[in-house]
Amino acid sequence: MTALTEHSVTDMEQRHVTDVAELENIIFSSPWSEKSLAECVGGKNTLFLVCEKDGRTVGYVGCYTVCDDAAITNVAVHPDHRRQGIAKALVKALISRASERGCAQVSLEVRVSNASAIALYEKLGFRSVGIRRGFYSKPREDALIMIYEI
Ligand SMILES: CC(C)(COP(=O)(O)OP(=O)(O)OC[C@H]1O[C@@H](n2cnc3c(N)ncnc32)[C@H](O)[C@@H]1OP(=O)(O)O)[C@@H](O)C(=O)NCCC(=O)NCCS
Repeated sequence: MTALTEHSVTDMEQRHVTDVAELENIIFSSPWSEKSLAECVGGKNTLFLVCEKDGRTVGYVGCYTVCDDAAITNVAVHPDHRRQGIAKALVKALISRASERGCAQVSLEVRVSNASAIALYEKLGFRSVGIRRGFYSKPREDALIMIYEI
């Protein structure tokens, strides 16, 4: 399905953190805590962006910026709001913001079985550069390392 509307992407603020933590709990087997997410708001070396619909946070992306690398740590969209271009808008916005911070690349790990996320990143121009064996737990699985050169 093609997105018919532009999605509004903004910086994560403290008011978004409860919704984001709820999504982490729904979606991931090792969710980030509300406290960890709250610590990322406005951080010098963190960049978290959200997409809101009708006053609820429906998607988010986050990264650490270390030297010239923006290392993505979180990407997710609420199951009821998928295939509307929200993740694409979030990751594109993150690439643009990372570039403004002087980053030369955006990197991430993704479960080798996560076909939907891999398709998203490939569509955005990320390329696979390696495998981290046994990177994930719950369940244990290899990670594909992907890089986007800005
Ligand atoms: C992966 C995820 C973030 C994608 O979010 P989304 O908002 O539905 O993605 P988008 O609508 O922006 O999709 C953009 C493109 O990615 C690809 N894509 C996304 N979901 C896909 C799916 N289920 N199957 C195949 N391709 C998919 C498509 O190319 C899509 O473009 P199209 O809809 O025009 O075909 C979402 O499925 C999710 O939250 N999954 C669970 C959490 C997760 O796996 N996060 C990634 C951790 S590394």
